Amino acid sequence: MSFEPRSIPIDPDAKAALAAKGLDYRLVDSNDLEALDGWIDADHRGFHHARPRDPGREYDRAVMAERRIHGVYDDDIPEPRVPVATVSSWPAGLSVPGGRSVDGWAVSSVTVSPTHRRRGIARALMEAELATARRAGAAVAMLTATEATIYGRFGYAPAAKAATVEVDRRRAHWIGPDAPGRVHFVEPGSLRDQAPAISRRAVSRTPGEIDRWPGALDRMLGLVDPDSDASRGLRALRYDDEHGQPQGFATFRVTREPNEPGWVEFDVLAAATDDAERALWRVLVEQDFVTGVRGLLRSVDEPLEWLLEDPRAVTTRDAGDHLWVRVVDAAAALGARRYGAAGELVLDIVDPLGYAAGRYTLLASADGRAVVHSPRGEGETDEAPKRERSRSRGADASTGGARAASRAAAPRSMRLHVRDLASIYLGGVRPSVLARAGRIAEASPGALELADRMFASPRTPHLSIWF
Ligand SMILES: CC(C)(COP(=O)(O)OP(=O)(O)OC[C@H]1O[C@@H](n2cnc3c(N)ncnc32)[C@H](O)[C@@H]1OP(=O)(O)O)[C@@H](O)C(=O)NCCC(=O)NCCS
Repeated sequence: MSFEPRSIPIDPDAKAALAAKGLDYRLVDSNDLEALDGWIDADHRGFHHARPRDPGREYDRAVMAERRIHGVYDDDIPEPRVPVATVSSWPAGLSVPGGRSVDGWAVSSVTVSPTHRRRGIARALMEAELATARRAGAAVAMLTATEATIYGRFGYAPAAKAATVEVDRRRAHWIGPDAPGRVHFVEPGSLRDQAPAISRRAVSRTPGEIDRWPGALDRMLGLVDPDSDASRGLRALRYDDEHGQPQGFATFRVTREPNEPGWVEFDVLAAATDDAERALWRVLVEQDFVTGVRGLLRSVDEPLEWLLEDPRAVTTRDAGDHLWVRVVDAAAALGARRYGAAGELVLDIVDPLGYAAGRYTLLASADGRAVVHSPRGEGETDEAPKRERSRSRGADASTGGARAASRAAAPRSMRLHVRDLASIYLGGVRPSVLARAGRIAEASPGALELADRMFASPRTPHLSIWF
């Protein structure tokens, strides 16, 4: 999805709903520095961050210049240049099972001033983002959430988890294989050229990861404000394979009191290969004069405990929802991923906001490819995205076999809410678990068992950044 995200017209419903409250909803022109700075100030205040200062402000300006940013303005306050609500969004690929990517609409910076809360401002903004995502041709909208109770009402649901992984240094005796390549300490700035390609490959092999935006890696490498204490404390490791090709990197810092062993803390470990992942973990956990290693936003399914003699050296905590997904075009979303088993499955999707509502037939072949047939469902909205809206997505001749195989029997079917579709979409939870929770209803025998196998992902979904 490469296009100018600001070219989509402002959502008329949100504009009208907010105007009725005496508020002005508008797109912020990133060339208007006064307006942009007012918006950035509101965003920082909304998340309880300190007032931005250079060079952080410069960084924010550059990042926001790439995005579609909206502010809600109240002319009746002493500082009307600062919006009372903010949201930003941009098109980004979301990795799905099978090493592929689906067109996503990333939503961020959702804030409403405490002076204007609970008047329906966030609702107007969030509904507008869904309409814009649809107009942009995205299959899903996605976000990370400060609180887990805000976004379900708009059809978002947890789709990929993250956890904090801690390793007790004294117990961390490595028994994993030696990597064929080598890990080197490097200056963080030296990774600027190699990190984007490594990250792209790391993202594409992990369902739940999203494309990194321009500037994201500069922040990870401490290059936004290199003279700050935080940046100066950052150390960088790079793994080169046996051919000398960089395949992974990590940045970490050691937090410590004088004369006490410290903690190695990191939130960036990008590995394009399993060798790189193992080798970087090994250097991180085998440091001396540290109490332990703490990895933030790690997978809930790290191979680490299988690489150490004492699996109890590893503690996984704070595991929970991290990536939230909202399906806005079910046919495109279902057609984009690969499936774990062949079969034909009918999904009756309930979506109170209409975007994904209807009956979809998912026909997967043994190689994991699928076609999706979706005669217009009852609740589907009239507003189609601008692009061609073929209701048969992911078409591939190889699915003919699966169709022939299942032609004899009536297709297995189940009924589910669009939120539950989002949760099973990347393989983060089995459909049968949601059925046990009373959320998915099997309409014909065997549907759940088939859905469990079809929606399984070879790799546990994981998102390793906030956005
Ligand atoms: C979360 C936030 C954006 C909500 O803004 P708001 O304008 O007060 O929300 P609205 O009045 O539009 O409320 C919309 C709905 O969400 C609910 N809601 C809003 N904030 C909520 C919260 N923090 N927890 C649970 N429900 C919440 C409202 O009750 C309302 O429910 P309903 O429409 O189903 O009756 C605002 O409180 C905020 O800026 N918080 C701090 C920053 C933040 O956490 N942003 C989220 C980033 S992921």
